[in-house]
Amino acid sequence: MTINILATGTSRGIGKAILDRFAGEDVRIVGHRSSDGGDDILAADLTDPTAPRRIWDQALERLGRIDVLINNAGIFEAVSIDAPDIAWTEAWNRTMQINLTAAAELCRLAVLHFRRQGGGRIVNVASRAAHRGDSPAHWHYAASKGGMVAMTKTIARGYAAEGILAFAVCPGFTMTGMADDYLASRGGDKLLADIPLGRVADPEEIAETVRFLALAAPASMTGAVLDINGASYVR
Ligand SMILES: NC(=O)c1ccc[n+]([C@@H]2O[C@H](COP(=O)([O-])OP(=O)(O)OC[C@H]3O[C@@H](n4cnc5c(N)ncnc54)[C@H](OP(=O)(O)O)[C@@H]3O)[C@@H](O)[C@H]2O)c1
Repeated sequence: MTINILATGTSRGIGKAILDRFAGEDVRIVGHRSSDGGDDILAADLTDPTAPRRIWDQALERLGRIDVLINNAGIFEAVSIDAPDIAWTEAWNRTMQINLTAAAELCRLAVLHFRRQGGGRIVNVASRAAHRGDSPAHWHYAASKGGMVAMTKTIARGYAAEGILAFAVCPGFTMTGMADDYLASRGGDKLLADIPLGRVADPEEIAETVRFLALAAPASMTGAVLDINGASYVR
């Protein structure tokens, strides 16, 4: 049976790798990005509180039914605790809105839909930061991903009996841009010294894990949170 998938943040990075990874599978997938890219990917800025509902409705219109929701869109923006109060709070709220609130709203719409059709799967792309914390400039990022993991577990426990499964993946550093720029933005060579595997993850490794959870993971795995971090944080 063809599986219908809605995935957010698929214009680049991990999301693009997820789209590519599903090629060749028996799936129909609707992707998403923040603004119109002149292609068939849905466009909606997740800072707009009305975006999740629009994304969901447009995806449903295209697909007829949705079997899997993948919440991947996210931002990793620094803000110093020395920033003016209003700037720090605005940065906090922006990260929470995009990384957690929008994902929660899509999860809610998915659960309501899955209940009516007798089941479905949610895969949330969280982060190692959910468990380990992040830099002093990223309180909001770590909190948003910690919230996402807690939300995923809540959905898994709440709706398993109705055939609704929920999983989260927690990538560590994942090379999503030009290597030099990426490493510099995350702390340079010091970052590698902290990863026993000796390298950051490839987006394809995250995408393969998401594919497994979306299509193949046994139902008894619901609620699982999978680490993909080269043993840089082992729990
Ligand atoms: N890369 C890492 O090291 C790493 C590690 C752990 C977890 N993660 C998580 O993995 C996910 C993907 O990360 P990535 O590194 O692949 O990110 P990325 O390359 O920066 O891509 C981010 C994606 O999210 C979308 N997005 C960003 N802001 C948005 C907004 N306001 N409204 C709608 N869409 C928006 C982007 O769309 P546009 O192209 O339109 O902006 C893009 O498709 C995120 O949730 C991130 O937190 C990443």
